[in-house]
Amino acid sequence: MSNNTKLEVKDLTISFKTTQGMVRAVRGVDFELQQGETLAIVGESGSGKSVTSRTIMGILAGNGVIDKGNIFYEGEDLTQIEESEFHEIRGNKIGMIFQDPMSSLNPIMRIGKQITEGMILNGKRLKQQFEKLFHEEEARVHWLKRDIKRAKREFKKLKEKAKDDSSINLAEAKQTMQARVQKAKEELKPAKKELKRAKSEAKIKIKEIWNEQKEKANKDIQVLKDQLQGADDAKAADIKQKIIDRKEELARFKQVTKREARERAIKVMDEVGIPEPEKRLRQYPFQFSGGMRQRIVIAIALTLDPELLICDEPTTALDVTIQAQILELINKLKREHNLSVIFITHDLGVVANMADRIAVMYAGRIVELGTSEDVFYDPRHPYTWALLGSMPDLDSKERLVAIPGTPPNMLFPPKGDAFADRNKYAMKIDFERQPPMFKISDTHSAATWLLHKDAPKVEPPEVIKHRIERMLKRNSSSEVKS
Ligand SMILES: Nc1ncnc2c1ncn2[C@@H]1O[C@H](COP(=O)(O)OP(=O)(O)OP(=O)(O)O)[C@@H](O)[C@H]1O
Ligand SMILES: [Mg+2]
Repeated sequence: MSNNTKLEVKDLTISFKTTQGMVRAVRGVDFELQQGETLAIVGESGSGKSVTSRTIMGILAGNGVIDKGNIFYEGEDLTQIEESEFHEIRGNKIGMIFQDPMSSLNPIMRIGKQITEGMILNGKRLKQQFEKLFHEEEARVHWLKRDIKRAKREFKKLKEKAKDDSSINLAEAKQTMQARVQKAKEELKPAKKELKRAKSEAKIKIKEIWNEQKEKANKDIQVLKDQLQGADDAKAADIKQKIIDRKEELARFKQVTKREARERAIKVMDEVGIPEPEKRLRQYPFQFSGGMRQRIVIAIALTLDPELLICDEPTTALDVTIQAQILELINKLKREHNLSVIFITHDLGVVANMADRIAVMYAGRIVELGTSEDVFYDPRHPYTWALLGSMPDLDSKERLVAIPGTPPNMLFPPKGDAFADRNKYAMKIDFERQPPMFKISDTHSAATWLLHKDAPKVEPPEVIKHRIERMLKRNSSSEVKS
């Protein structure tokens, strides 16, 4: 992991409990995202794109379980933190935009309120200052509680395993677990006491800080009020405004105020290209077009100043022209706010001008990972070929080649390469063993047995080769991000 790594997903494995059994939605996904980078995750419906991104965001559905793996965000493992901590990360650090803007907007609430709501909710400045003062003590209590839970959970898992594995010494494991729980419980008592003490100290400190601010403001206001005497009308109006402003300044010390949030809302609406924001603030979602609604959703995500933006098919519901505008907007915001972006789509064509790197996903796994150039000009996985073949090509008369067959049923994931059934280049081994990720270059790898040194040399299909040639000819700058 380099210094610049924002996000690192390791061996992420996720299942859903359903009445028919466990759906193996994500099966060992690995990738990294660098600061300021755009990674596109591309794949057919059901390949696990949304599940992966929702898990990063901490909003996995209730019947979902993380079986294995880690999600490191700036080094902290998001799979191990409590919901309360996630709450802070969600929105403040990681923002998400979904496919259907209507589903993330409230149809009966004015746009202005929807944009300002989060800012006000997340903008309790004094309270945040207060909580920081006993953060360490609180983390210690959290950590001990978590350790108790974890010890019990690990033992439970072992007990399950012991049913099939007689070599496991359960009695010994139980003792170890109990000792660990006992120790944590003993440490928990003083830790809780310490937390209580830190909290009451913090309360006093914050009260002092607040009183000092209030006194200062009151003094300033008194001075202004004194000036009111004998002032003419114009002067008086000016002073009254100053008094209001001074009160506002004090309120802002405590929290994001309505006025402040409104000012910010107008600014972000302008930034995402919504004309006449002052007027538009008072309108309802149905008064906006689909493209404008998606801009609003993006504005809402922006108000919280995220560092990482996850876009899950943000343009799928839009027509082509509007789609291009939204992509342009995301690109612009990314540059101006130095965001890291995960961009999810089933359409490889969409990401050509967006992505620094592309991860191609199939049946819960990444099957090819590389820079945009790697994936567009030197694709290696037959599934990537199929995706490229199904991509609309504007200046050729070629018909779209649909990918034959359907993805596997993830209740029963195949033993070998999940794409084997649909792959005309599949070999015997493809049906038997899952291919590892073969490294092609420092930036490029793919999981297909075709890359094994003993595999027959297979060229991409002619239609793909033609496309690559044409794309290369047309020059990289317009077709693929350089
Ligand atoms: N709550 C759930 N319960 C059961 N199965 C689920 C649940 N959520 C997702 N799945 C399954 O997990 C797999 C991956 O779904 P996911 O939504 O990540 O696909 P996707 O790649 O985002 O597809 P799309 O392009 O259709 O959005 C699918 O087989 C899906 O049916
Ligand atoms: Mg999805």
